[in-house]
Amino acid sequence: MLVSGRDLLKRAVAERRAIGSFNTYNLEITRAILRAAEARDASVFLAIGTGAFEYAGFEVLVAASLAAAREASVPVAVHVDHAPDAETIARCIDAGLTSVMIDGSKLGLDENIALTRRAVDSARGVCVEAELGGIAGAEDSSGAHETSIPMTDPADASRFVAETGVDSLAIAIGNAHGFYTGEPHLDFDRLRALESAVPVPLVLHGASGISDGDLARCVELGVRKVNVNTEIRYALFESLTAVLRDGVPGYDVTKLFGAAIVAMQQAVEEKLSVFGWD
Ligand code: G3H
Ligand code: ZN
Repeated sequence: MLVSGRDLLKRAVAERRAIGSFNTYNLEITRAILRAAEARDASVFLAIGTGAFEYAGFEVLVAASLAAAREASVPVAVHVDHAPDAETIARCIDAGLTSVMIDGSKLGLDENIALTRRAVDSARGVCVEAELGGIAGAEDSSGAHETSIPMTDPADASRFVAETGVDSLAIAIGNAHGFYTGEPHLDFDRLRALESAVPVPLVLHGASGISDGDLARCVELGVRKVNVNTEIRYALFESLTAVLRDGVPGYDVTKLFGAAIVAMQQAVEEKLSVFGWD
């Protein structure tokens, strides 16, 4: 069922676990994410970045994502990930998305506050996530990264949330988009400080490549939404490569992509269990 992002965050806070946010680009990935959510009886964010909109077409991808969310037996919020401006936010709200993220993280604090306030106004009551601090790496074709600089400052975060009225805040504590070159070192002391300074749920981006133990610790310390993208794409590529190597009789697309859906579903389910959905 299609629900608001705010409902999901409320549930995460009440149940002290995290809602997984998984990025889709097409029908196969959407199917894998929602099958995993249904298998775990989990609520999820079905996230779409601007690169995915360009790839699949805005209207088509929105319509397919909303239809899939409505048809699901579990609560699903359809979310725009890393929107760069208030106009994109307004377009997504008009189209029926139930959660949005504005990303002004590359701006200075005051500019980020101003951009985020404009996004909150454009969202007309829909749940808004913002980002403060820098998360290295690109969203759609992420390579490997060591760290994210600068990390989120707790005092800045407290001011940012008070002045923008956002519903949730994405933080930088050593996380990065894509796989990491070595073992990522998350700053858990900073996470504790952010948790006490910030009155809204915290969001962790860049979960791919972070160990299950570290992710579970983030959830224990108050992260209530965790974003995963690269590990799903990795499962897709691995599956397609293996199936194509062995060959598919009759060029049967349902076998080629069917196997990929199963592989991606498994990747999503593994993450859901770490976030508290056993
Ligand atoms: O917004 C999406 C996530 O931050 C994805 O990060 O590709 O490292 O899993 P990831
Ligand atoms: Zn992200």
